[in-house]
Amino acid sequence: MAKIFLTGGAGYIGSHTAVELLNEGYEVVVYDNLYNSSKESIKRVEEITGKSLTFYEGDIRDREKLTKILKAEKVDAIIHFAGLKAVGESVRKPLEYYENNVGGSITLLEIMNELEIKNIVFSSSATVYGNPDTVPITESSPKKDCTNPYGWSKSMVEQIMMDAQLANPKLNVILLRYFNPVGAHESGKIGEDPKGIPNNLMPYISQVAIGKLEKLGVFGNDYDTPDGTGVRDYIHVVDLAKGHVRAIKKIMENPGLKIYNLGTGVGYSVLDMVHAFSKACKKELPYEIKPRREGDIATCYADPTLAKEELSWEATKTLEEMCEDTWHWQTMNPNGYNS
Ligand code: NAD
Ligand code: UD1
Repeated sequence: MAKIFLTGGAGYIGSHTAVELLNEGYEVVVYDNLYNSSKESIKRVEEITGKSLTFYEGDIRDREKLTKILKAEKVDAIIHFAGLKAVGESVRKPLEYYENNVGGSITLLEIMNELEIKNIVFSSSATVYGNPDTVPITESSPKKDCTNPYGWSKSMVEQIMMDAQLANPKLNVILLRYFNPVGAHESGKIGEDPKGIPNNLMPYISQVAIGKLEKLGVFGNDYDTPDGTGVRDYIHVVDLAKGHVRAIKKIMENPGLKIYNLGTGVGYSVLDMVHAFSKACKKELPYEIKPRREGDIATCYADPTLAKEELSWEATKTLEEMCEDTWHWQTMNPNGYNS
């Protein structure tokens, strides 16, 4: 069976993808500098699957180390999750974000060229669509200006990978544009473990539910949406992880360049999320309406048809499952992997 190399594979989406790959019989090698994750997630992946994987602590910008490991491991494909992802922090530290996300990706691509590794799947984001003219968003919707360096770093790496693929037709590139990943593995053993106060909605709600945070601030209720709050396409992280397995199957067919939205195609508002989570945790969740957050858009949801047609993949997990699984992870690990 093929051997898959996961940069950033100890993180939230990478660890869930490692589980699905191991379950499908792939060999998995994880390379992560543990900047935003812990080795404990690797141990938990092994517990869930009853299989072992190979872990290296390392930075994608460490050319020598990465070259040595990739040379020795002889991998069939790389899924490139490694990167920094905090939007607000990226505004304060743009150079760090570009250096890690863009610089690190270039180093990785150069090493792939040198060692003739020809398959890469990249973690991109719906953020590259900016404020879309119409929803649902298809892959042919235009890319637009991003509102922060994190978003630009994703947009730039996409462009770099497309140009690298054009220059080297032997290279296969699949860009996966994630919508809003939420939830956790149903075992409650792995999940999202944000550092400090979460920026994203679901981990924030979950920490209100467990009593670590007092109440949710709802960023604006005057958008042009059914209840005035922002609408997003939340996708269960296990569905998302399975999308990566399908992308790996696809990339083995030498597809050249492919781009897929990974979303459900359904939009929920902030208040829909509060109510659904409230049901899952069986508590009232306090919230207050706050001003809009800079850079936010009213509505964003995917047209996931292309992934269904070409990858035979579609999201199957419901909003209830997203909330229940997040709550299960949160209650089993009130302090994340440090519990
Ligand atoms: P995460 O922070 O949990 O995982 C990223 C991992 O990369 C971490 O384990 C971190 O330690 C590692 N890392 C960072 N810089 C590194 C470097 N230079 N060398 C080696 N390892 C490094 O984040 P995640 O939510 O799992 O996201 C995975 C990828 O998906 C990221 O590229 C992210 O930008 C992208 N993405 C995430 C979301 C989301 O909402 N979570 C949405 C769209 C895209
Ligand atoms: C954000 C990022 C996006 C990134 C994605 C995943 C911005 C502008 N966009 O997307 O680039 O790819 O996270 O990391 O930051 N909300 C509240 N209160 C909160 C938190 C969020 O009301 O405390 C609302 C937001 O206004 C939005 C929705 O909840 O309407 C979802 O927010 P969030 O989870 O941060 O995701 P996005 O903003 O869609």
